[in-house]
Amino acid sequence: MPPISQRAELMPASPIRKLVPLAEAAKARGTKIYHLNIGQPDVPTPQVGLDALRHIDRTVLEYSPSDGYRSLREKLVEYYAQYQIKLSPDEIIVTTGGSEAVLFAFMSCLNPGDEIIVPEPAYANYMAFAISAGAVIRPVVSTIEQGFALPDIAEFERLINERTRGILICNPNNPTGYLYTRKEMDRIRDLVKRYDLFLFSDEVYREFIYTGSPYISACHLEGIEEHVVLIDSLSKRYSECGIRIGALITKNRKLRDAVMKFCQARLSPPLLGQIVAEASIDAPRSYSAEVYEEYIERRKCLIDGLNRIPGVYSPIPMGAFYTVARLPVENSDDFCAWCLSDFSYEGETVMMAPASGFYSDPAYGRNEVRIAYVLNKRDLTRALFLLEKALEAYNSRK
Ligand SMILES: Cc1ncc(COP(=O)(O)O)c(C=O)c1O
Repeated sequence: MPPISQRAELMPASPIRKLVPLAEAAKARGTKIYHLNIGQPDVPTPQVGLDALRHIDRTVLEYSPSDGYRSLREKLVEYYAQYQIKLSPDEIIVTTGGSEAVLFAFMSCLNPGDEIIVPEPAYANYMAFAISAGAVIRPVVSTIEQGFALPDIAEFERLINERTRGILICNPNNPTGYLYTRKEMDRIRDLVKRYDLFLFSDEVYREFIYTGSPYISACHLEGIEEHVVLIDSLSKRYSECGIRIGALITKNRKLRDAVMKFCQARLSPPLLGQIVAEASIDAPRSYSAEVYEEYIERRKCLIDGLNRIPGVYSPIPMGAFYTVARLPVENSDDFCAWCLSDFSYEGETVMMAPASGFYSDPAYGRNEVRIAYVLNKRDLTRALFLLEKALEAYNSRK
């Protein structure tokens, strides 16, 4: 049999999904699992989006334009204007989720061997997409002690060499929930300008910011407009991960032309998803307000609960719906697997994502986990109780 590609060998397994076989075996034994491991919100999709899907009035489910329907892109222009992001429909390319936007951004901006600098812990799929493009991620590590603030800019500069093509940030951050400050964003801007880099800015969680701090988009930064590639997604803000609609946004015409070639090769973004997306943008303000209030309460429930468990520490995330918490264990990969394979309390257990998968260097994140607060408060409270029981049992095994 011919071998599979080296690229495929290098592709990391998703840290979020790699425990799935253990979870399936636990479920087969009748154990109920509280999923703190994945960013799949349980809140309903806007009714207007569901109605649009129900009442589709078409005789042919056709390909759409490769950059997405203009009517959707026009709606998105209005949406971004609320965040002081001024765009024209031509500057927005609709993609198959934010995932495809990341992939096409890398494919269009990076040659094999090119490097991008990424603060870690980071959304694990960046690594997978970088490998797909033959590019290399150079991490700068943020720490739980500093609340996962942007590492010193000197650490970025130390990594810059002739292969460095860009910086990637996720703001608000998955997995840490950190929100970059104006000062931090200005430092990134200066770096991008000084070294003539791309700035890939993943802002799919902009709707989920819980402090009074302002949201500074990469698109707000003056003087680097042509360098910015904004990654966006409708998955999280309308709880419609399954429609697979996102966007790649850039004012750089040359880059858009390059991205469009990848878009044309994959023909079109999902038709049905675009119909739901366009309708969802018209969801009443009360929809976003309710969802927001719900997440504020969940965040409080989770963070207070975590910090009450002996030996556990979580900073207070400012945005998104995740936190990275430190646990009183030496190896969170082992602990998370053990929670599924060996532990249950009254027939229930918890599933978390070991944080090691969010760092390039396996030396980091050994005692950390990423926890998503996408469950209702009752389930979150129960999951926290189970986590405390699991830690007690795990640490008293020897
Ligand atoms: C930071 C971040 N970017 C991008 C994505 C991709 O989202 P999607 O492809 O569903 O739009 C996710 C999904 O979890 C994410 O957390």
